[in-house]
Amino acid sequence: MDAVERVRPLLARDVRDEAQLVDGYLDLLGPEEHSSPGFVQNLMESTFVPLVYERWWRPALGRVAKGLFGPGMAEERRIARLLLALSPGDGVLDVGCGTGNFTRDFARSVGADGLVVGIDVSETMLTRAVVATRAAQLSDRGAYVRGDAAELPFLDSSFDAVCCFAALHLFANPMRALDRMTAVLTPGGRIAIFTSVRGRSMPLRTFESVAGARSGMRLFERDEVVKALEERGFEDIQQRITGLTQFVGGRLG
Ligand SMILES: C[S@@+](CC[C@H](N)C(=O)[O-])C[C@H]1O[C@@H](n2cnc3c(N)ncnc32)[C@H](O)[C@@H]1O
Repeated sequence: MDAVERVRPLLARDVRDEAQLVDGYLDLLGPEEHSSPGFVQNLMESTFVPLVYERWWRPALGRVAKGLFGPGMAEERRIARLLLALSPGDGVLDVGCGTGNFTRDFARSVGADGLVVGIDVSETMLTRAVVATRAAQLSDRGAYVRGDAAELPFLDSSFDAVCCFAALHLFANPMRALDRMTAVLTPGGRIAIFTSVRGRSMPLRTFESVAGARSGMRLFERDEVVKALEERGFEDIQQRITGLTQFVGGRLG
């Protein structure tokens, strides 16, 4: 069975009937205009960026943000797998999945009995994700939903692990998105986040404030994401800061 049909029972009852299958993903937002918080998100919804995203865009911008000695893309995938402690049969939600570059990797880890759901607001990113997942012959365990991270449309306790890489700083309401990510996790479920972090020096912080405001990208304080996870009941929280980015993981108590 195609994994997209295995997603329907996980959808909240009030949206289940609204979900339309469009280009291989379940669309919960429809044609209505959705407001983007800035020009970086506009690029994510363009037709051009998804075409070059995995090969050029993400590795290049990631390198700038993580610093010269920060982890490369293969290492990022390894960090995600470690923080999520995936095993065969797990259910995983990939929030802000883009073209499904991490979603497909998780799909390989959870095997045919597992299910990985990628969610994103961008139609162009999701169209690309569906094609790449079919080409990788992972459509039996990898599926996509178009929806907003702040309103994750799933029943509570639906997933064993939630990943949100390179996306939290783009959300209009990241703390609400963390609330929803927590709600859809099972007790003992794992979370892995890769996002921005502010520098320490005053000149750098001033530059960051201006650049952040212009781009629509948020820069989190150094302890902000860790504290947010603590407040939501996560334990064993780990944080690794590299350049202007951070990896944060934890387990829901
Ligand atoms: C930079 S990409 C990250 C893709 C992938 N996770 C990675 O690490 O390469 C960020 C994605 O977040 C999505 N996004 C932004 N705001 C969102 C929201 N409110 N809800 C869901 N996805 C959102 C964008 O459309 C984009 O595809």
